[in-house]
Amino acid sequence: MNIGPIKLSAPTLQAPMEAITDAPFRALIRARGGCGLTCTEFIHSAHVTPRNPLAARVLRRAEDEQPIAFQIYGREPTLMAAAAAACEARGADIIDLNLGCPSKQVTGGRAGAALMREPERATQIFEAVMGAIKAPMTVKMRLGWDEETRNAVEIARRAEAAGAAAVTVHARTRQQLYRGEADWGAVAEVRAAIQIPLIINGDILTTGDARAALSASGADGVMVGRGLVRDPWILRQIADDLAGRAPTSPSLEARHGALLGLLRGFLEGAPTEGVAVGRMKKHIGYLTHIPWGAQLRDDLLHARTAEAIFERLTSYFEALEDAGLSQAFERRWPR
Ligand SMILES: Cc1cc2nc3c(=O)[nH]c(=O)nc-3n(C[C@H](O)[C@H](O)[C@H](O)COP(=O)(O)O)c2cc1C
Repeated sequence: MNIGPIKLSAPTLQAPMEAITDAPFRALIRARGGCGLTCTEFIHSAHVTPRNPLAARVLRRAEDEQPIAFQIYGREPTLMAAAAAACEARGADIIDLNLGCPSKQVTGGRAGAALMREPERATQIFEAVMGAIKAPMTVKMRLGWDEETRNAVEIARRAEAAGAAAVTVHARTRQQLYRGEADWGAVAEVRAAIQIPLIINGDILTTGDARAALSASGADGVMVGRGLVRDPWILRQIADDLAGRAPTSPSLEARHGALLGLLRGFLEGAPTEGVAVGRMKKHIGYLTHIPWGAQLRDDLLHARTAEAIFERLTSYFEALEDAGLSQAFERRWPR
């Protein structure tokens, strides 16, 4: 799958997630393999300025992190264009525009998913951004604002007409927030309406989900968000499955090493140990579906120092090994 001139190694993309998809998390995901494109969390266009500390943190990319999309949001075409150009200058391979965020903070400012209610305004933004960058522009949207106004087809057509290189659809309306089930089949209408690559997103947790979402929508690629927090290996498994290779499970050592690597990444990048420990805690939600995972997660949530987290992880993995559970991650375990 290509996005403009950029060839993705796999049609499996990491979804942008605020406060989660920072540089250490993206490094973790990329190192697992099977990730065709990483993406920063979103940042308001007004914050993409040279000395803004938020921009410095959100738009930090590793030298070898390629390709990467930087995601911006806002509603002023000139500001969005300037932010897109600044992102390109900071090393973005792709500029992604957020038309999907449902939060009141964002939609209250008539940005994010609220822009789907203003197709003309959205078009002005697409055109302004396209006029400001050489990198491909992509647009991430929802099905629409609510059930009565599902207009992803119209917004996707407008994005394509303005020159977008790909479109991602999270198969929910803004009104649904993150509730209910993603309606993968509804994205087939977008597929029929545009020629550019289409990426399906929402509720993809397994290789079976990825296949079902692709077949229901006709999309070219899948994007995974929460599933990656739960299991950082899932993009690799999906990529293997789609390429006809048998998906493999990581060893215990690999799982242990991944968690330690993540914590080290936070310690290197965060201003204080407390901040690093806080960031780490956002990433341990997925531990519930591994043996004794709920207990481990509780222990880690109560840890106050990086040392305490290192020690708890080490004793956990040693106990698993002693119990002969090294192959047990695929099964659901009682809490
Ligand atoms: C904690 C969290 C933060 C998110 N932040 C962003 C964001 O910054 N930009 C964006 O386009 N979507 C954001 N999303 C939406 C995801 O990218 C994705 O569209 C959504 O979670 C559905 O996909 P999933 O079921 O694979 O998680 C966020 C979702 C979550 C759960």
